[in-house]
Amino acid sequence: QQAPIPHPRWRLPLLGDFVGTHPRAPLQDALRHARTLGPIYERKILGKRIVFASGADMVAELSDETRFRKHLAPAIVGLRPLGGDGLFTAYSDEPNWRKGHDLLRPAFTQSAMRSYHRTMLDVAKELVQHWDNVGDTPVDVSADMTKLTLETIGRTGFSHPFDSFRRTTAHPFVDAMVGALRHAQVRTFFKPPVIGDLVWRKRDLRNDARLDYLNGVVDGVIDERKRNGHDGPDDLLELMMRAARDNDPNRLDERNIRHQIITFLVAGHETTSGALSFALYYLSQHPEIFAKAQAEVDAVWGTDEPEFEQIAKLRYVRRVLDEGLRLWPTAPVYAREAREETTLECGHHLDAGDGLLVLIPMLHRDPAWGDNVDEFDPDRFAPANVKSRPAHIYKPFGTGERACIGRQFAIHEAVLVLGTILQRYDIAADPNYRLKIQERLTLMPEGFELRLSRRT
Ligand code: HEM
Repeated sequence: QQAPIPHPRWRLPLLGDFVGTHPRAPLQDALRHARTLGPIYERKILGKRIVFASGADMVAELSDETRFRKHLAPAIVGLRPLGGDGLFTAYSDEPNWRKGHDLLRPAFTQSAMRSYHRTMLDVAKELVQHWDNVGDTPVDVSADMTKLTLETIGRTGFSHPFDSFRRTTAHPFVDAMVGALRHAQVRTFFKPPVIGDLVWRKRDLRNDARLDYLNGVVDGVIDERKRNGHDGPDDLLELMMRAARDNDPNRLDERNIRHQIITFLVAGHETTSGALSFALYYLSQHPEIFAKAQAEVDAVWGTDEPEFEQIAKLRYVRRVLDEGLRLWPTAPVYAREAREETTLECGHHLDAGDGLLVLIPMLHRDPAWGDNVDEFDPDRFAPANVKSRPAHIYKPFGTGERACIGRQFAIHEAVLVLGTILQRYDIAADPNYRLKIQERLTLMPEGFELRLSRRT
């Protein structure tokens, strides 16, 4: 027997829980409801039922891989035209998920990270060269972080530069990607028959053109590799190309290789650029935390370029990053489904395949974090505090076997870049800026600018 779970008060016939819905800010809608309705609640929108979960106990229960696994939420299914059965958008029982996971895992080991370090430094250097030349003009933080992270994954994963810092505007790849992510987000809400394909025809066609463009970029990356070969340490593309050449049991077909490349170009930069932008936002708002982080960089790196081992030694900078991802995990939701029919400890019954959306920003504000959960405090991640908290209370990189494969890559890159910025600049935000969250499936601070001054 289904235990009743709360839902928003104003439920309309046909439309459902539509009151107060903002298609461009669905996450913030969901967080608002979670604040009043609690750790589990449901919404029905245009006949579709979504169950949201966010309590620490419930998320711990959902992390049990023997009972639950990744669920492909409608917004992720909406990305399948982009990512197909690539790692992020694959169903766990699709053969290409396991093959791709096993084949590409070696590209994320410690020794692989070591081989990317030089390139990550080179891209960070391009960022600061660009910033050195802007003078007193404020920089658009999210735009520049996006340039940096796209450049990093392009060069480390595929030896493909996007020349981002030579352009005055974003690379068209970014515009096409953001357009496709937004389209998937909004289209998830407005599906026929309620609104009808006709109304969406023009926008769908525009989106098809974006997908064609993205596929074209990827085909260019593959052609380039076929033409020029590869002589450095293995990268993502080389692992896939060699497996295909050698008839490896984990080889991926051509269509899937395309999907993996798009997946990594998108997943490999969009979330990290948001994480860097939030960290810089919070550093700009807390001069004492900024000073402490800068003092650490000075003590550990001095004025030198950091060696690989010196990145992980920036323990406090890492805490700044972690705390930014606590408040605004830039991939803010993941979904779980029951492997078999089961009943949650709260009494809610699930049939096999029934999904729940985990609202990570709400989990990260669970009372178990303390009574000042909205405050930015990197010391939450000091080892003694981490040890005293429940195990499953921090999930910016998801959970279980479908958790983020690029976690170490993102952390190495982000700490390296934050350290580079702290080493070189003092920063100041416009005192009138108020944090605004932009949602495009991932999160980004909107309109956030910084003024930089070179340290003497
Ligand atoms: C999966 C977050 C950086 C590649 C995920 C998931 C989350 C996440 C929450 C799980 C999604 C789910 O369960 O549906 C993040 C965050 C990042 C980051 C917050 C940066 C701060 C990266 C990077 C890469 C990457 C740098 C690649 C270089 C992937 C892939 C998956 C994934 C391929 C799918 C893994 C699978 O299902 O096998 N990420 N990610 N991510 N991420 Fe990341």
